Amino acid sequence: MRNNLCSESCGLIYRILTFFVVFIPVFSAPVVTYSQSDESVITLGVSRDDVNRGRRFFMGLLPFDNRHPSCVSCHYLTAPDTLNWNPSALDLAYKVAITDSASFYRAIMEPSGNVISQAHAGIELTADDIQYIKIYLDNLSRTGTEPLRPSINRILLFLLLGVILTLALLDLIIFKKIKYKAIPALIFVAAFGYQLFMLYEDAVLLGRSPGYQPDQPIKFSHQVHMTENQMDCMYCHHTATTSKTANIPSTELCMNCHIVVREGSRSGRFEIDKLVRAHEEGRSVEWIRIHKLPDHVFFSHAQHVGAGNLDCMQCHGDVENMHVVRQVSDLSMGWCVECHRETKVDFIENEYYSIFEAFHKDLEQGLRDSILAVNVGANNCSSCHY
Ligand code: HEC
Ligand code: HEC
Ligand code: HEC
Ligand code: HEC
Ligand code: HEC
Ligand code: HEC
Repeated sequence: MRNNLCSESCGLIYRILTFFVVFIPVFSAPVVTYSQSDESVITLGVSRDDVNRGRRFFMGLLPFDNRHPSCVSCHYLTAPDTLNWNPSALDLAYKVAITDSASFYRAIMEPSGNVISQAHAGIELTADDIQYIKIYLDNLSRTGTEPLRPSINRILLFLLLGVILTLALLDLIIFKKIKYKAIPALIFVAAFGYQLFMLYEDAVLLGRSPGYQPDQPIKFSHQVHMTENQMDCMYCHHTATTSKTANIPSTELCMNCHIVVREGSRSGRFEIDKLVRAHEEGRSVEWIRIHKLPDHVFFSHAQHVGAGNLDCMQCHGDVENMHVVRQVSDLSMGWCVECHRETKVDFIENEYYSIFEAFHKDLEQGLRDSILAVNVGANNCSSCHY
């Protein structure tokens, strides 16, 4: 009886199960590659085991009776989707690579600075343990963080589900090896359903297109400087009223204040240290450009902010409440043209428009009650295209 029930169907199910049990762990196991690091490890005169041991300390897997939070819980290895004020593991690694062992030990066990003292309080590690972490971080500064693997696992899982549902379907229609039709049907529905779910998840991610918001080399926050310290946009972007482009401030300008302010309440000293180092080495900070029109378009800040008296916010959104600047407007031609059709220009007070005599007469005689940007030629092709 048992044989009748199971001999055929169990065979297939057993095979599918083995497939899962054997292959899924193979696909999803974190693959640690050492192709690059092998060289660096050898030149350092330490072994791969030392690097691995350091990694375990960093991940909080060692020591076994660990009671402090793991380093990686603050110093992330992957990019988070919200701003993490703690230095990332890679940021840390770059700094540690130029730090000697004694300073590294002090940064962890006898830190100076308010933020780091709080963050590193209660860490219980021996000098040896810490040396392993340094080896791991030194190595990380050469190899970089591992590329994200889950996406590959995801593709494999998707394909695997495809194979399973094909098998189930083939059995259902052609081979008919499984006696109870419900079994392949169920497998088919489950595999197909999960595939649909995966597609749905990806589609949701695709549809959500956040404005361009790259991570900058220093965690400079407009919110900290504008909203919390009441600075004015023009203090840093002072060419916005007079020139085509708004300038990005130099390190010298930042140093006006940061010659004194050496610790932030969120990032501690780490980020401001980067600024100070750049300044001392005479380097400029390589900020990543966010807003960029194609070369064939002419746009002038002076025209809009100076003559047009527009607020930065109208085009850039609520920058003063952003920790990381995000491009809010799409900078499309439609966006420019639309605004020119809707926005009145301050005609009477503005000398810039004194040449438009006809409009001035119309205004005086009450033939028009306002002049829009489009009326002064803002939507002529040649205004924006050379
Ligand atoms: C609770 C969060 C937290 C944990 C846990 C943590 N750190 Fe930090 N760490 C920070 C913050 C915040 C800073 C930057 C503060 C500053 O520079 O003033 C920092 C800075 C550092 C620095 C840089 C010091 C320098 O020279 O600028 C090193 C090195 C470091 N951490 C190593 C570690 C290691 C190793 C561990 C695990 C044993 C660890 N951290 C655990 C929050 C944390
Ligand atoms: C303390 C100096 C400072 C002040 C004040 C300041 N900014 Fe900035 N701004 C910067 C720096 C540095 C960058 C480049 C790094 C970044 O994008 O965060 C920047 C970048 C920007 C960008 C993106 C530029 C690009 O690459 O496309 C915009 C837009 C901007 N600021 C608008 C404003 C506005 C609006 C205000 C006033 C609410 C303001 N800023 C005040 C320093 C400042
Ligand atoms: C007018 C003075 C002033 C100028 C100019 C200025 N800052 Fe600051 N900055 C401050 C103050 C004050 C703080 C401390 C805010 C806090 O942590 O509460 C600060 C904090 C910071 C922090 C740490 C934020 C935190 O909370 O951890 C960074 C990073 C920073 N500034 C970078 C810059 C850069 C880069 C520039 C130049 C583009 C700049 N600052 C220009 C006054 C200034
Ligand atoms: C009418 C819309 C508009 C207004 C108002 C405006 N901007 Fe811009 N801003 C832009 C556009 C468009 C760009 C991209 C320019 C390019 O790529 O040539 C830009 C770029 C920038 C940049 C990057 C550097 C550059 O010039 O390309 C900064 C910084 C900036 N704006 C700051 C400001 C500040 C500060 C104000 C307020 C004083 C302001 N903007 C007002 C539309 C505007
Ligand atoms: C928030 C509304 C707004 C947006 C968005 C805007 N503009 Fe304007 N623009 C104005 C106003 C108002 C004027 C008239 C003020 C002036 O002439 O200085 C103007 C004037 C101009 C002029 C000068 C026309 C002339 O001959 O006097 C040009 C060129 C121009 N805009 C280009 C652009 C481009 C390119 C974009 C898009 C990248 C853009 N503008 C986006 C409001 C806007
Ligand atoms: C107010 C400014 C403005 C005016 C006026 C304007 N353009 Fe544009 N144009 C733009 C901007 C900004 C872009 C870039 C759009 C993008 O990158 O998506 C653009 C892009 C284009 C492109 C490239 C195709 C594309 O979508 O990228 C063509 C072609 C073009 N414009 C033709 C014209 C013609 C023809 C006129 C006159 C009827 C005109 N434009 C008037 C701002 C303007």
